[in-house]
Amino acid sequence: MDTNLAIETNDLGRVYRLRGPKRKGDAKQLVALDGVNLEIRRGELFGLLGPNGAGKTTVIKILATLLLPSSGVGRVEGLDVTRDVQEIRRRISMVSGGETSGYGLLTVEENLWMFARFYGLDNVTARKRIDALLEVVGIADRKRTKISDLSTGLRQKMNFVRGFISDPNVVFLDEPTLGLDVTAARDVRGFVKQWMHDHPDRTVLLTTHYMAEADELCDRLAIIDRGKLLACDTPENLKHRLQREAIFNLKVGPLGPKPSRDAMIEAVPGVRQATIVEQNGHTELNLILAQEDVLSNVLAHLTRRGSSLISLEKREPTLEDVFVDLVGRRLDVDTSHHAEGEHAAG
Ligand SMILES: Nc1ncnc2c1ncn2[C@@H]1O[C@H](COP(=O)(O)OP(=O)(O)OP(=O)(O)O)[C@@H](O)[C@H]1O
Ligand SMILES: [Mg+2]
Repeated sequence: MDTNLAIETNDLGRVYRLRGPKRKGDAKQLVALDGVNLEIRRGELFGLLGPNGAGKTTVIKILATLLLPSSGVGRVEGLDVTRDVQEIRRRISMVSGGETSGYGLLTVEENLWMFARFYGLDNVTARKRIDALLEVVGIADRKRTKISDLSTGLRQKMNFVRGFISDPNVVFLDEPTLGLDVTAARDVRGFVKQWMHDHPDRTVLLTTHYMAEADELCDRLAIIDRGKLLACDTPENLKHRLQREAIFNLKVGPLGPKPSRDAMIEAVPGVRQATIVEQNGHTELNLILAQEDVLSNVLAHLTRRGSSLISLEKREPTLEDVFVDLVGRRLDVDTSHHAEGEHAAG
């Protein structure tokens, strides 16, 4: 076992039993995690990036000892998530972006103080830490506000603070900036970066939908879809993979009905991925091409189809492109309603 690993999973699997229509013998299973292998070093700020239902929260819950794996092994600081539950819980904390924890009648300060005492901090240390943390996320002036009177975003910042009060070795952040406005999200990201800088031996595992957030924050990240890891590397290296390809953004005149137009573009030899969005009155194409000269074939096809080119732009690859290349669809398109059949085992 590598002692520098803060988090390690070996062939981690999780199956949920689905209670479907009430017919006997109809219990379906959903494979939420399918053989996930992760190695996260101490000191890393590591991201899990993936669409709705990818399995991100399931990974985090298993590592935070809130959920048992169905198969495989998970370790936090070398401790086994199924056997060393109490010891792991002493060393970690977890914050979920969407959570609504806290007791409405308590003030922000009282609520955090209560958690600090749960974690075993003495009164003086607790107060000092609470003040300092509230200051960095910019809600020090809300110390005496009742939690029930906080807006969603302010409450989320308070929960976020809670995750750092115990001075944990490993912090799990599940969508920490979900629903926050631009400034609040920036505060939260700034805080995570600063905390990692001040505590270089700690580890953060975060999940996010936001490509830019993953790109900005993470030392390394894993792209996950339908319970499987598709890639794991630094944001730079992930983008570098696409550097050989050419990425173009085209605006063209109307292209006609959807199924045939999508198939038509993807059938052009050398087009690796195409995402097509109808804007008001025109069509926007995002194309990943094997080489630059494939573009002339695409343009020829468009002309044949009676469509005209409005604008053309070559872009540097972003994480979004990496994602599209690996997953075959965009992250910003809602994928939460994909057919259960694609997940279901047996
Ligand atoms: N308690 C549960 N019972 C049954 N299925 C579940 C349960 N929790 C999660 N799932 C399913 O497991 C899969 C993975 O869910 P998970 O919450 O880990 O995804 P996620 O990547 O966190 O998604 P999101 O981005 O929406 O938060 C999904 O298909 C989800 O519907
Ligand atoms: Mg989730």
